[in-house]
Amino acid sequence: FRADWDMEQAEKNGYDHFMLKEIHEQPTALQKTMTGRFNKEQKSVEFDELQWSTQQVEQWDKITIVACGTAYHAGLIGKHVIEELTRIPVDVEVASEFRYRRPIVNEKTLVIVVSQSGETADTLAALRQSQHLGAQVLAITNVVGSSIAREADKVLLTMAGPEIAVASTKAYTTQVLTFYLLGIYLAERKQSISKEYQDQLLESIAEIPNKMEEILEHSSSIRWYSESIKDANSVFFIGRGVDFPVSLEGSLKLKEISYIHSEAYAAGELKHGTLALIEEGTPIIALITQEEVSEKMLGNIKEVKARGAQVLGIAGEEKMNIWEYVDECCYIPNTLSIMTPLLTVIPLQLISYYTSLALGNDVDKPRNLAKSVTVE
Ligand code: G6P
Repeated sequence: FRADWDMEQAEKNGYDHFMLKEIHEQPTALQKTMTGRFNKEQKSVEFDELQWSTQQVEQWDKITIVACGTAYHAGLIGKHVIEELTRIPVDVEVASEFRYRRPIVNEKTLVIVVSQSGETADTLAALRQSQHLGAQVLAITNVVGSSIAREADKVLLTMAGPEIAVASTKAYTTQVLTFYLLGIYLAERKQSISKEYQDQLLESIAEIPNKMEEILEHSSSIRWYSESIKDANSVFFIGRGVDFPVSLEGSLKLKEISYIHSEAYAAGELKHGTLALIEEGTPIIALITQEEVSEKMLGNIKEVKARGAQVLGIAGEEKMNIWEYVDECCYIPNTLSIMTPLLTVIPLQLISYYTSLALGNDVDKPRNLAKSVTVE
């Protein structure tokens, strides 16, 4: 009898690994993160913690997002969303770079630090440096009372609950969700989007947890696909627009726990080098959700297929013709084009999980990595 083992089994709630449990907890984690954020009558986003006026928001001439790892990838989606909805310029930087240069940050900058643990040393240093330079710092974190939560000027908490697996899943999607809510909140103050579009955005957000659930319920083909790539030397992820940062996150997940070399490319960059690496059988995971660039994506897929790549396409349900271009296909439920990252990342998380499992790796505790990096 081992009490610690029993305890751990109980905590896994019937799942084989914390990572799988946490992947499945995402619909609930998102629901919790959005609870209390909607003013249903006015159809608007409310953040009692912020209380920013239009005048306050107008004072910022740019936003700088600083984070590490998966949180940095959430920041890249944040840039896309905030720029699209507010037209405020947004920079995103990894904290370990930001802190050692002379960043251009001052009273007119809103700095947003993103950290699941709230304890990452580089992110905390970036927060302090930004405050020293006169910027207001907003933290998006999952841990109340963490160093970052205590030192930031304002805090938005993600409600992911404890995340045990080293590979972050539900913390990431709740961070991304927070960026959507924040983007709408800022846009409302700047009056930069129409009321109709705002209503559509809020409706789509509310539908995301159910759509995630749908993907999770139909994930058996993903398991099969993952087994087919487990012996690959390299796996490439490609996407355009907001599909690109999601590709980066999918690639990181795969590296972290399957130890397979992987890279993500903005699909238009393939021709500038990476195409030389594509050979017979190279697995490519292509995200094709952005209508404005879908013809371009299909062109890129033709290029890699002509060199023998095996392509898995991840696309919205309306893109049924995708079958003509790819070897395998994974559909996600339809949603607004800006909102797809919250759905496309689910199959990518599952691919990394099942590949790691097929290889017999320690899914929850990958070699050489720590959940929280509190020293440099
Ligand atoms: C570590 C974890 C990653 C995480 C990163 C940043 O590398 O393994 O999953 O994304 O730290 O952590 P934070 O707690 O600041 O989000």
